[in-house]
Amino acid sequence: MSAVTDRFGGGVAVVTGAGSGLGEAMALHLAGAGVHVVVTDVDRERATAVATACVAAGKSAEAHHLDVADGEQVDALFATVWATHGSVDLVVSNAGIESGERLWDLTPAQWRRVQAVNTDGAFHCARSAVPRMGAQERPGVLAVVASTGAVTSLPYQSAYVTSKHAALALVECLDLEVRAAELPVQVSALLPNWVRTRIFDDVRRAGVPTDPDARASFLRMAESIQAQGMAPPEAAERLLDAVARGEFWCFTDPDRTARLFDERARTLLDLRRPERPGWSVATA
Ligand SMILES: NC(=O)c1ccc[n+]([C@@H]2O[C@H](COP(=O)([O-])OP(=O)(O)OC[C@H]3O[C@@H](n4cnc5c(N)ncnc54)[C@H](O)[C@@H]3O)[C@@H](O)[C@H]2O)c1
Repeated sequence: MSAVTDRFGGGVAVVTGAGSGLGEAMALHLAGAGVHVVVTDVDRERATAVATACVAAGKSAEAHHLDVADGEQVDALFATVWATHGSVDLVVSNAGIESGERLWDLTPAQWRRVQAVNTDGAFHCARSAVPRMGAQERPGVLAVVASTGAVTSLPYQSAYVTSKHAALALVECLDLEVRAAELPVQVSALLPNWVRTRIFDDVRRAGVPTDPDARASFLRMAESIQAQGMAPPEAAERLLDAVARGEFWCFTDPDRTARLFDERARTLLDLRRPERPGWSVATA
């Protein structure tokens, strides 16, 4: 039996941004492990397609529209899910969007939307889930998807990288508070490295960056992720296994992530200026 089946089988999980990519793969993996999955996404059709695929495979799932940037929507949905199921074993705050301009070329609305989805979304999920998990009989897990971008500096992705540094800080502070309050809640930080998803496609639809360097960088990142990123099912399995084992730090690629942590620590300890990383998965 897998760690995920053992820990969460027969339980209930909510996954945000579960209509595509990593969230979709985590929803399918959880459903395959015997978990009832509440598949949520700002794109209702994507959420419905994933839940329908789970049910067609004989698994248990339901679909809901949810924009994680809207705290009232998050709270209303979580209230409904808890009222329906009594308790929730796992919430994965996964929804996220990319950015691709130079900092000063971003409009305030573009900047705010990235922070609203990637950072505020995690806040809204935590604010709504932690007290409910604290009051239920079964222990719960809140897993927040940050990124290896949470410990790196990248040009032309400032909105995204800022939001992921903030999301990681949020999870670290939350873990301290949950433990201080002795709540039966496990908090986990998920730091995927590159995963082959459509995350850059949604940015591309809104228009590629205008600055030539930012555009070239964006297109290189989008191509590299498709060429070298991990397949979503493998990434989902690795992350969920780590969550099920009770780990705080959960990676898709522990060796590369350790190198990034080492690089970050050296940059700070040696008071180095930020350096532009190479563009292959091995060095990013
Ligand atoms: N793909 C990677 O290489 C990579 C690496 C590190 C971290 N991540 C993180 O993984 C998470 C999932 O990204 P992905 O790569 O699977 O991308 P994706 O674009 O394939 O999927 C993201 C999903 O989130 C949904 N979404 C967007 N805004 C939303 C909102 N406001 N509310 C609810 N849902 C919303 C989208 O409709 C989409 O279905 C993100 O947090 C991302 O930052 C991805």
